[in-house]
Amino acid sequence: MACDPLTPYGNRPMVTPIVNAVNYEYSSFEVLRKITDGEIDGYTYHRDDNPTVRAVEKMIADMEEADDCIVCTTGMAACTMVYFTYLSAGDNLIFFHDIYGANYKVSLILERLGVDITWINADEYKDINKYIKPNTKMIFCETPSNPLCKVVDIQFLSKEAKKNNVMLVVDNTFATPYHQKPLLLGADLVVHSATKGLGGHNDLMAGAIAGTKEHYNDLWFTRQAIGTTLSPYSASLLERGLKTFEMRAKRMADNAYAIAEYLSKHPKISRISYPGLKTDPGHEVAKKQMKDGFGGILAFDVGDDIENAKNFISDLKTIYHAVSLGSCETLICIPFLTTMLYLPVDRRTIFGVNKNTVRLSAGIDKTELLINDLETALKNI
Ligand SMILES: Cc1ncc(COP(=O)(O)O)c(C=O)c1O
Repeated sequence: MACDPLTPYGNRPMVTPIVNAVNYEYSSFEVLRKITDGEIDGYTYHRDDNPTVRAVEKMIADMEEADDCIVCTTGMAACTMVYFTYLSAGDNLIFFHDIYGANYKVSLILERLGVDITWINADEYKDINKYIKPNTKMIFCETPSNPLCKVVDIQFLSKEAKKNNVMLVVDNTFATPYHQKPLLLGADLVVHSATKGLGGHNDLMAGAIAGTKEHYNDLWFTRQAIGTTLSPYSASLLERGLKTFEMRAKRMADNAYAIAEYLSKHPKISRISYPGLKTDPGHEVAKKQMKDGFGGILAFDVGDDIENAKNFISDLKTIYHAVSLGSCETLICIPFLTTMLYLPVDRRTIFGVNKNTVRLSAGIDKTELLINDLETALKNI
């Protein structure tokens, strides 16, 4: 029997090898035929598939309790692949205002291609029936949402969507599969920016979409066509991140909860959004659909205006002033000036974000260090 050069004597490497081959030698025309006819899995060209990428797809599918998962270059590539795969000119897509800002830019492209888009506020999710039209094909939401951590009831939305033959897609980046598994709650597809908690180290960009085998095949067609296949190097970093993901998710949620409790009593914090707080409007639903905590991200308003928020952030020492979230480091930013720049000024605030709203993503630091940092910076405003 031929010896596999990667596993001589059967000693397998502990880490999935980084296969950086773009193309693969066909062992025979018969094997080529079987691969192209879909009779066997096989690697032929990187845009089609790659073994390092396939390894992380299987890990994420397990985490989301999905049949399969398709991984791609970024979270926005994942969202866009979903729209391109399932929407056509004339279809209606329901977007919640409370979703990551770059989706707004994609919505402009979709409108140019003939997709009809309805924007609704997540606070109105119970009225979803009012917005579903005969041509509605998809509802896309985040829960908790970016940046205001608003919570929508996935089971409720899924029931309404199914009644109307509409697809429900949930971006699970904020909750992560550690706390919430949307497919088990009735969503059709789950989307991730794996750049965030799944990767966890600010050193890779990736996106992931989990669902049925049929969804995998549909989305694979799009990925192969448009070429959004992840590099094997990023896939390898993602595999490393996934190994510690659960520990990090737990620690981040514990830190976020402690920070939310602390800030909710602070006189210079005029508003706080974190579904873990009993006073939060999303708490009851979050308690029902999330487990073992409420995620690592919270949003709060500092003082009275944007200058207060800027001064506060400038005085932080342990917490980094940077975008992104879900990493080992604790990160903070003002969405109005950063992640929401994708939106026209008047659209940045219509669903509840203020100019002095800051978004904090708790890292794995010692809780006391974070609270001390916040306390010191708040004294100076
Ligand atoms: C909830 C959510 N979805 C999608 C994205 C897009 O991810 P990426 O930056 O990997 O394209 C982000 C980015 O911040 C996000 O927060």
